[in-house]
Amino acid sequence: MTAEPLERALDRHEHLTGTAPFPGPRHLVLRTARESDLPELRRLDVEVFREVAYPAFLLRQLYDMYAEHFLVLDDGEGSLRGYVLAATTALSRDSWILGLCVTEDRRRHGLGRELMVEVLTRLRRSGIEQVRLTVEPANRAAILLYHSLGFRPEQPDAGLRRDYFGPGEDRRIMHLELSRLP
Ligand SMILES: CC(C)(COP(=O)(O)OP(=O)(O)OC[C@H]1O[C@@H](n2cnc3c(N)ncnc32)[C@H](O)[C@@H]1OP(=O)(O)O)[C@@H](O)C(=O)NCCC(=O)NCCS
Repeated sequence: MTAEPLERALDRHEHLTGTAPFPGPRHLVLRTARESDLPELRRLDVEVFREVAYPAFLLRQLYDMYAEHFLVLDDGEGSLRGYVLAATTALSRDSWILGLCVTEDRRRHGLGRELMVEVLTRLRRSGIEQVRLTVEPANRAAILLYHSLGFRPEQPDAGLRRDYFGPGEDRRIMHLELSRLP
């Protein structure tokens, strides 16, 4: 399936006049990731996720499989300031959000929400009915964002899965029924 091009300038007033004004150019572009973005995506992933960043080879393979649902925020000056990645399953109508981030200097301007809304719109258009994700139980910012988009903890135990990513690496699983959204 060919990825449908997505490109949209994020230059709305509210993105430019928050409490921490953007340094640099006045707008970002939200677009589908390209193969040529991979080195910059790796740099961004390490900047935000540090030791738990995806290895370059895995990022490459995730891009190969899921480019259609791999979106980036491009500052137009050679840097990416955020990304979201969703993986879809071939045999069911499920999807997982595998990555979401915005660089520290661009947070609290609605960009994380923009990335999520765009990828959810695309997933829904592709016929996906359910979206899941994992989040660190202490990651309040992400949990509030996901909750505001309609994600809810996947029962039992309010979504808490002990040692989900190995010893001491608990995660909360949240899910969203896309098919039930208006
Ligand atoms: C989570 C993350 C992507 C949010 O991006 P962002 O662009 O700052 O988020 P937004 O400005 O779109 O905020 C959307 C909502 O998220 C919540 N939120 C975001 N940051 C928050 C914070 N620091 N404290 C409390 N709530 C926060 C709020 O509900 C906010 O809505 P509001 O502005 O109407 O109050 C960003 O903080 C990030 O990259 N964090 C590091 C990587 C990460 O944790 N990724 C998620 C892994 S599961």
